Amino acid sequence: MRTPLIAGNWKLFKTLAEATALINELAPLVNDVKDVEIVVAPVFTAISTVVSAAGKTAVRVAAQDCYWEDEGAFTGEVSPKLLKDVGCSHVIIGHSERRQYFGETDDTVNRKTKAAIRTGLTVLLCVGESLAQRESNDTFKVIEAQLRGGLADIPAAELPHIVIAYEPVWAIGTGKTASDTQAQEVHAFIRALVAQIYSPSEADAVRILYGGSVKPENINGLMSQPDIDGALVGGASLKAESFAGIIRFKG
Ligand code: PGA
Repeated sequence: MRTPLIAGNWKLFKTLAEATALINELAPLVNDVKDVEIVVAPVFTAISTVVSAAGKTAVRVAAQDCYWEDEGAFTGEVSPKLLKDVGCSHVIIGHSERRQYFGETDDTVNRKTKAAIRTGLTVLLCVGESLAQRESNDTFKVIEAQLRGGLADIPAAELPHIVIAYEPVWAIGTGKTASDTQAQEVHAFIRALVAQIYSPSEADAVRILYGGSVKPENINGLMSQPDIDGALVGGASLKAESFAGIIRFKG
């Protein structure tokens, strides 16, 4: 009953020409896939171009971050209102690279999430533990704090506009995927936590994506886990063939 969602996070890659070429190559490979939501997240400067290239295809467009005010004296920021204006339907918030390198906190994640939802965007809300945190058995504690912080004061009625992405930091860009069992264990924990914060029916409906070195070779095992509803893909989303291979995980 939960529609799978496969999202590509292009990070700081792709010129306008490269972004257009990728969409043009990807679209025919996935146009017949009807039961999977497809999202790509280009850099801000390429969003408009990618929205045009995606046109009437099934590909939806996300931003990789946003600010929480609609407008004002906030040099360098981009608001959810402007993302909506340029044609985004989704926005990634709280990616571990933003937390690690750009001072993102659970509080800023929460403000951004609320603002994005208010504007009508769907949020891909990222959580994930570092290697040190996993090794010191703090995974669940870290995930719980990030999730409670990120979802603070967000009412149940808004939960359908949030997709949670579990991305263990040690698996991002390292080629080291969490095993299907490791991922499922945390996904089940997240779903139980959503049931506790909201209710079992909200928990049942919320989609939880896995992210961290997802490839065509490992997507099948991940998607066969009961609580994994899709993937947030970095490296493998930069090539049409591998991203299409992930989107077509059903074969
Ligand atoms: P990766 O990145 O697939 O290259 O590990 C995932 C992500 O950062 O979303």
